[in-house]
Amino acid sequence: MKVTVFGIGYVGLVQATIFAELGHEVVCVDVDEAKISNLKQGIIPIYEPGLTPLVEKNYAAGRLLFTTDAQEGVEHGKVQFIAVGTPPDEDGSADLKYVLAVAKTIATYMKEPRIVVDKSTVPVGTADRVSHQLQTTLDERGSDLTFDVVSNPEFLKEGSAIEDCMKPDRIVIGTDNPDVEEVMHELYDPFSRSRNRMIVMDVRSAELTKYAANCMLATKISFMNELANLSEKLGADIEKVRVGIGSDSRIGYSFIYPGAGYGGSCFPKDVQALVRTAHGVDYQPRLLEAVEAINYSQKTKIFSNLQKHFGADLTGKTIAVWGLSFKPNTDDMREATSRVLMEALWEAGAKVQAFDPEAMNEAQRLYGNRNDLLLAGTKEAALQGADALAICTEWKEFYAPDFEVIKESLTSAAIFDGRNLYDPIRMKEQGIAYYGIGRGESVNSDDQ
Ligand code: UDX
Repeated sequence: MKVTVFGIGYVGLVQATIFAELGHEVVCVDVDEAKISNLKQGIIPIYEPGLTPLVEKNYAAGRLLFTTDAQEGVEHGKVQFIAVGTPPDEDGSADLKYVLAVAKTIATYMKEPRIVVDKSTVPVGTADRVSHQLQTTLDERGSDLTFDVVSNPEFLKEGSAIEDCMKPDRIVIGTDNPDVEEVMHELYDPFSRSRNRMIVMDVRSAELTKYAANCMLATKISFMNELANLSEKLGADIEKVRVGIGSDSRIGYSFIYPGAGYGGSCFPKDVQALVRTAHGVDYQPRLLEAVEAINYSQKTKIFSNLQKHFGADLTGKTIAVWGLSFKPNTDDMREATSRVLMEALWEAGAKVQAFDPEAMNEAQRLYGNRNDLLLAGTKEAALQGADALAICTEWKEFYAPDFEVIKESLTSAAIFDGRNLYDPIRMKEQGIAYYGIGRGESVNSDDQ
């Protein structure tokens, strides 16, 4: 099938590539000329395991084309995906200007009926606004062409996007037109040949499903972080509690890892956007507001533990920071806990020596010119002469470090672990002051 994808960001590029891999003919359109020209040369704008060879293979096979020519894109695909960004505007609502601009473009150039699919994460009611934009532009042209607007939210995770896209848990399609449903089947059936993963519903429910999924996961995390904070007060170990409750299959083990807060391009933005949507219909979403507030304070947890250990004044201290990306297997630092920590340290007059396996270029781009930041080449180099180690991301290479090297390199043997990678008892035996998240007063270092 002929498919066009507008917006070659994270979601657009991965989805377009997988459509091509499964045999569809895909044209990718983006306004960023540099990005398009790089993609034609096999230079991929994001780090995602397995993506580069798939892009190269399908581009070489002629099934995946890149262009800045919107007209070419509109003429190509019977199905037109909108996968452009929906950045939060000043009050946290999703800004739809890019989505509506693509709708206008499609209506400007279409010569035959088109199925327009919202792939971007958009608030409930966006499909109606996209329809309105398409109709207005067609009316201006004096055209009586027809269109359908479908909601098809994306659920892929950074770091496992290819796998998530190839073997989706579900494909949510919002439409009330049976003919459109048929086309969506034709498009997506190759993804789920052994079992039909497509769940068809009305457009508004599909739009809300995306937010419901991310907000539910964010709620699980904030719930665990609340219990982690309580565990510290009560002298319990949240990691034992986690295993204890996860063994109940109704609760399950996934997304109940406590830590120094969730980040990334989805959870913070989507929770805020759903809060705004609720306010817009005169409903106060008390649970979601609490999820957001807990996460906000959880991101300051490592910094407050540092102050607990060293005293309020951190002037002149140097802190090694391991893990800058918002989670492992990505170079994405959007809403990352590391940023909250580093910015608080700089504000307090401390220096940072940072290391991340993938996000060093991103850190350089964001903070490169600061003289209170050293971007270290290895995790060991980040430790050299620092006063303490803080861990923000659970990259595998941080799981089993040489603790002797850590002790020798740091001026004080103290680890502030935002992802609970180590055993507090073992840390105590090693003579390391260890601050995890929710590991109980009994195992916190200040009683050593
Ligand atoms: C998320 C959703 O999982 C995905 O379905 C959606 O399409 C986009 O948003 P992503 O942002 O890539 O994906 O990352 P995810 O693996 O969900 O992690 C998000 C954040 O939550 C990370 O900062 C991670 O460290 C944190 N997290 C996750 C926890 O703190 N505890 C957990 O138990 C799980």
